[in-house]
Amino acid sequence: MSQPAYLSKLLAAARNAARNAYAPYSQFQVGAAILTSGNEIITGCNVENASFGLTICAERSAVVSAVALGQKEWQAIAIVSPTGVTPCGACRQVLAEFAPQLEVWFAHLDPEQSVTGPISLEALLPGAMKFKT
Ligand code: THU
Repeated sequence: MSQPAYLSKLLAAARNAARNAYAPYSQFQVGAAILTSGNEIITGCNVENASFGLTICAERSAVVSAVALGQKEWQAIAIVSPTGVTPCGACRQVLAEFAPQLEVWFAHLDPEQSVTGPISLEALLPGAMKFKT
């Protein structure tokens, strides 16, 4: 599939955000960039803590920023890391709260390396927990 027009800007934003990662324990810098339905880009990075379990992943950091900015409708997210990881289970659930149709892209910090996507969030987390009304 050909790459959408938004992708190179989204990946660049995620790579910039990864530079702000606070990852002194893992040395694994992750950046995430959400593309809103209005074509704005909102970023996040991982923020680790001496109490390791309190670490916030880049994806959830981006989600919290987007919601705080009043942006809850999203088209896509790009996640960049040293190894091109997919979002962890906790982040998948948090993303699914807002955007089950989200297009997810993964890439390496190194722009010369491969980009994977789009993969729908529903494919990454079938049956995400939701309250039934
Ligand atoms: N991390 C993320 O920020 N996003 C992911 O999708 C995977 C893992 C972070 C958490 C921790 O700071 C470091 O990467 C190593 O797990």
